[in-house]
Amino acid sequence: MPLEVVETIEQLRLQLNSARSDGATVGLVPTMGGLHAGHASLMEQAHATTDLAVASIFVNPLQFGEEADLLNYPRDLDKDSALAAAAGVDIIFAPTVDEMYPGGEIATAVTVSGISERWEGPSRVGHFDGVATVVSKLFNIVGECAAYFGEKDWQQLAVVRKMVADLSFPVSVVGCPTVREPDGLALSSRNVFLVGPHRRAATVLHRAAKAGKASIEDGETDPHAVSALMTEMIEAEQLAEPIYAVAVDAANLEVPKRLTGQVRLLVAAQVGIPRLIDNVGAVSTITGTT
Ligand code: PAJ
Repeated sequence: MPLEVVETIEQLRLQLNSARSDGATVGLVPTMGGLHAGHASLMEQAHATTDLAVASIFVNPLQFGEEADLLNYPRDLDKDSALAAAAGVDIIFAPTVDEMYPGGEIATAVTVSGISERWEGPSRVGHFDGVATVVSKLFNIVGECAAYFGEKDWQQLAVVRKMVADLSFPVSVVGCPTVREPDGLALSSRNVFLVGPHRRAATVLHRAAKAGKASIEDGETDPHAVSALMTEMIEAEQLAEPIYAVAVDAANLEVPKRLTGQVRLLVAAQVGIPRLIDNVGAVSTITGTT
């Protein structure tokens, strides 16, 4: 089936309702465009596991703090369409801002308290409200579906999972592994701002998170010790400035008293121009209180 670009909510609803009435399952991959191999991996998974793969491309003004970031965000629908088609996408939903927010105004917001207020929250005030609001709109437009999100943005994934559970969206959320460069750097649209020595220095995020994981798997249960280890590693890299480096409960993103079960190592650092984030998972098999 050739890739089709749909720009209106009404047309997308019509097509998806008709496909579902014929028994088709729908996969949704929400994106803001500027597509790379990380996005492609989500689309490939949607294509492999559902009958109709839809990718949305919408640069959502609600989730940007600085006007300049919004204006400078990469926009190239032809290039993105080619990547999406190669990854097995059937429909691109590319609405205008006016289609999503008629008149430019929206009086309703979705706030996922708790999870949104931690780690990325203080540095990006209002960001997760913007994400939760646009994702809930997309879920209302698309309807029953499987929705694919990258583990790269672990906090975003946790916010979306909590929102879906709290508001009973008919959506099953699928987390997909982070796609990395051969040296471990997580793919991100911000990596284009990493030049010269900063590109090499940026690998410290993944190196630090992996060191945190190794220490937990060696039996460390004190989250503060793991945090200190990762922070020191980032500080040792002259071109990187740590923002946070923490070992948290993978589901609620809180720092527990003792690390047990599913743990996530979350790191954020300024590396020259871009502010980068990364994370890896670890399982602490230690039980008890000692
Ligand atoms: P965007 O930054 O375009 O990312 C779209 C999806 O791609 C997200 O689920 C993100 O986690 C995933 N992704 C990005 N880099 C990845 C990588 N290296 N490996 C695997 N997946 C990766 O995230 C957003 O857009 C927006 O906030 C959105 C959810 C679309 C709401 O506007």
